[in-house]
Amino acid sequence: MTETRETTNAAFTPRVFSGIQPSGDLHLGNYLGALKRFADAQNRGIQSIYCMVDLHAITVWQDPADLKRSTRELCAGFIASGIDPEKSILINQSQVPEHAQLAWIFNCVARMGWMGRMTQWKDKAGKNAENASLGLFAYPALMAADILVYHATHVPVGEDQKQHLELTRDIAAKFNHDYGVEFFPITEPVIEGAATRVMSLRDGSKKMSKSDASDASRINMTDDADAIARKIRKAKTDPEGLPSEVKGLEDRPEARNLVNIYAALDDRSVEAVLAEYGGQPFSVFKPALADLAVARLAPISAEMARLMADPAQIDRILTEGAARAREITAPILRQTYDIVGMVAPA
Ligand code: AMP
Ligand code: TRP
Repeated sequence: MTETRETTNAAFTPRVFSGIQPSGDLHLGNYLGALKRFADAQNRGIQSIYCMVDLHAITVWQDPADLKRSTRELCAGFIASGIDPEKSILINQSQVPEHAQLAWIFNCVARMGWMGRMTQWKDKAGKNAENASLGLFAYPALMAADILVYHATHVPVGEDQKQHLELTRDIAAKFNHDYGVEFFPITEPVIEGAATRVMSLRDGSKKMSKSDASDASRINMTDDADAIARKIRKAKTDPEGLPSEVKGLEDRPEARNLVNIYAALDDRSVEAVLAEYGGQPFSVFKPALADLAVARLAPISAEMARLMADPAQIDRILTEGAARAREITAPILRQTYDIVGMVAPA
């Protein structure tokens, strides 16, 4: 199986795709798990497409005015984090109709059982699945379409998206197998760095999330210096100081989380951070972390605010991005339709 997968991929030029939902504010988990790493691919010269997944956002209720604001703010967040809309392609999903069109095909390839096993579905629908939207259930098929409508080979994401990316590979493999083609690549997840899973500041067993009721559990990209310092000062820890070796962080999820955040923000290894702070109490480490977080995040939030002052410019960037994206997606969708047996315009 692995061998076929590798042969399949060799035929594709490297292309990076990733998406973020424009629902609610960006937080440090989004930045370290995703945004911060997006610019790397772009700067290595790999063609990269970054997407505000507004069609995914509405799988749960969104206030229409908030959705528009969040989409523009997310676009500002991408640019402020180093994505250059000239080098990369920046889009909102709904302006590139081939995403939704390919998603329909994938709805017919993916199996109910695969979807039912997704932990994000189980978490979000909970015990009330009868009342969840059909879109929430089909969410991963749209995500597979986002990626495969570009023949993207690499997808940088946080740890929480791993299962969805495995499903994307399964959908591509089943499509290729059912139609006897090697048309879709078997995409590689790119989950790397010290902070692929940033945890809540209040509970080291839960991931930092925009849906957590407690604002103190996360650092928002738009928090000011005071708020950042206060949240880090109040972050849950244990009474011991920092260990000098990584294994001293085992069974200390809160301490490990803060060290991971420091390492990721400073582009250092966890070992290097412990070499400096091992043996120090949190009363020393937390202020250092707060200073570092403010130094890294303040310029980004200032740039986001500057960009948000001109929403028309953001809208122009997205319109242009969509036109460039469609040069890639339209031919791939056309070929998919042909493979599936749809009669094309004469
Ligand atoms: P979302 O906000 O759920 O659309 O997530 C957007 C991106 O941020 C995805 O690549 C996620 O994997 C990543 N992400 C979200 N929360 C976290 C977290 N707590 N730690 C690391 N990455 C995260
Ligand atoms: N499901 C992703 C999340 O919640 C967002 C997403 C949608 C995505 N489509 C994608 C991520 C395609 C990577 C590639 O974070």
